[in-house]
Amino acid sequence: MEKLQREIFEQFEQYGQEQVFCFWNELNDDERFSLCRQAARIDIGRLAGIIDTLLKKKASEVLPPIAVPYVPASYIGLPLDETSRCRWEDAYHLGEEILNAGRVAILTAAGGQGTRLGFEGPKGTFAVTPVKGKSLFQIFAEKVRFAEKRYGNPIHWFIMTSDRTHNETIEFFGKNNSFGLSNIHFIKQGSLAAVTAEGKIMLEDKWHIAMHPDGHGGAFKAFVNSGANAMLAGQGVDVVSYCQIDNPLAPIIDPYFIGFHEKNHAQISSRMILKAYPEEKVGVFCSIYGHSAVVEYSDLPVELAIKRDPNGALRFKTGNAGIHLFNRDFFGSLGTEMNGFLLPLHAARKKIPTIDGNGNPVDPETPNGIKFEIFIFDASQFAERSIIVEGNRREIFSPIKNSFGLDSPETCRQDQVRLFSKWLVAAGSDIPIDAKGLPPFNIEISPLFADNERDFLAKWSLLEKRPAISAGSYVA
Ligand code: UD1
Repeated sequence: MEKLQREIFEQFEQYGQEQVFCFWNELNDDERFSLCRQAARIDIGRLAGIIDTLLKKKASEVLPPIAVPYVPASYIGLPLDETSRCRWEDAYHLGEEILNAGRVAILTAAGGQGTRLGFEGPKGTFAVTPVKGKSLFQIFAEKVRFAEKRYGNPIHWFIMTSDRTHNETIEFFGKNNSFGLSNIHFIKQGSLAAVTAEGKIMLEDKWHIAMHPDGHGGAFKAFVNSGANAMLAGQGVDVVSYCQIDNPLAPIIDPYFIGFHEKNHAQISSRMILKAYPEEKVGVFCSIYGHSAVVEYSDLPVELAIKRDPNGALRFKTGNAGIHLFNRDFFGSLGTEMNGFLLPLHAARKKIPTIDGNGNPVDPETPNGIKFEIFIFDASQFAERSIIVEGNRREIFSPIKNSFGLDSPETCRQDQVRLFSKWLVAAGSDIPIDAKGLPPFNIEISPLFADNERDFLAKWSLLEKRPAISAGSYVA
C-alpha cells in the first residue's frame, strides 16, 4: 500500500495536483485508503490533457474566434397536409413492423444530479404525476410495460446511473419490484474530477475528491463497457431509443419516429420541438458546414437566439427535446477505445460544494469550479446520415429542471393534465376546460392504459363502460 501511495503522490505532484493530499496528515488510515482509491481511479494524464486543452491555453495559442456559419437545420415537420399525413402514416406502419420484430431497446439517462431541482435523491425517484404522485421512474416503467404488451416482445430498458445515483436507483427499483418489468439493466456512467478555474482538482471534503458524472455522452462508453452493445447485437436489436429521465412526456417508444429513422437509414435521429421563447434553455439544431449539430443554449450567440425571419418566426426555432434514436452499431462505435472516444468534452462553470484551506465546508452561491462533460448529441457530428423530426411540444416535452417557475414540477403537472384533457376531448368527453386547455381539477391517465393520443382513442372507443371524468379521476 505504501508503495502505491507513493506512486500516486508522485503522479499527482508531477501534474501539479498535490493539493489533493493537503489534509493527509489529519486523516486516519481508512480515510487515507479511501482518498488513495479515488485518486488511483483518476486517469491523471488524461485529465491534465483536458485541462490544458480546455482551460490553460495561453492567449497566444488560442486561434482567433471564427464566425461559425450557423444555419438552421432542416427537419421533417408535423403532418399539416394530406401528402405529409401519408408520409407520417407510412412511417408509423414501418415503425410498428420494427417494434413487432423486437428490434428496439431503450436507454434512459438518469445519472444527472438534479441540483437545480434541489432534490437530494436520483431525479427518477421524484414524484410528478397529478393524481397518483407517481415517480418519473414509474412513469417510464409503465411506458415500457405498455409497449411490451402492445408489441408482444420483451424490451430491454437500460437505465444509465452514475456514482451519485446508482445504489439508490437500484434500491428504489428493488422496493418497487421493478414495477413488474424483468428486462431492466442499470449501467453506470463514468465520472471526472471537478477543477478550479486554474485547473486544480477540487476536494469535496478532506478525503473525498469532488467527482461528477461525465455527462450524458458517457452513455456510449457505459453501453459498450457494460456489455449491453454485445448483448443486443446477439439478439438482433439494432435501434437504441434514448431519452432523459427529466421529461415524463417523452415518447420512448414511438412508431412514427422509429419509422422515419429506418426509412432514412439514419445513424442518429433527433426529436425537435419549437422553442417556446427566444431565450429558452434548450439546445438548437443547426447545420454547420453541412453537418447537423446541436448548439447548446449557452453557446448560441444571443443575436442569433432572438433573430426572426421576415414572417416573424424565430430563425433558430428548432429546440432539442433530448430524445434520439441511434443505430446500435453507430452508438457502440462511439463508445470504443479504438475510436479514441471521439466525442469532445465541454467545460461548464458550476457551483461545486467544496472545502476551504482549513477544511471548512463551502457551499458556493455562484459558480466556483469547472465540470467537464460529454454531450450525447455531439454524436450527430460523426454521423454520415442523421435526421431531425418535429414533435408536438405539448405532447412530448415537459421537462422538470427547476424547483419552481419554468420547467418545474408545477408546469409539468399542468402539462400532463392539459395533455390528458386533450385526449379525452378528442374522444368526445365533455370535460370542462379553460382557455389554457386545463380543467378545474387534476386527472391522470396511466401509460398502462395508453401513452399517446392514437392508442388512447383506440382503447377508449373499445371500453364498454367509460368512466365519468371528474376531480381526481385516474384512468388505468
Ligand atoms: C439538456 C440539453 C439541451 C436540451 C434539454 C432538453 C445538455 C447539455 N443540454 O439541457 O440541449 O434542449 O436538455 O431538456 O444536455 N444526465 C445524465 N448524466 C450526466 C448529465 C446529465 O444522465 O452526466 C441526464 C440528467 O439526468 C437529465 C438529462 O441528462 O435527465 C439532461 O441533463 P441536464 O444537464 O439537465 O441538461 P439541460 O441543461 O437541462
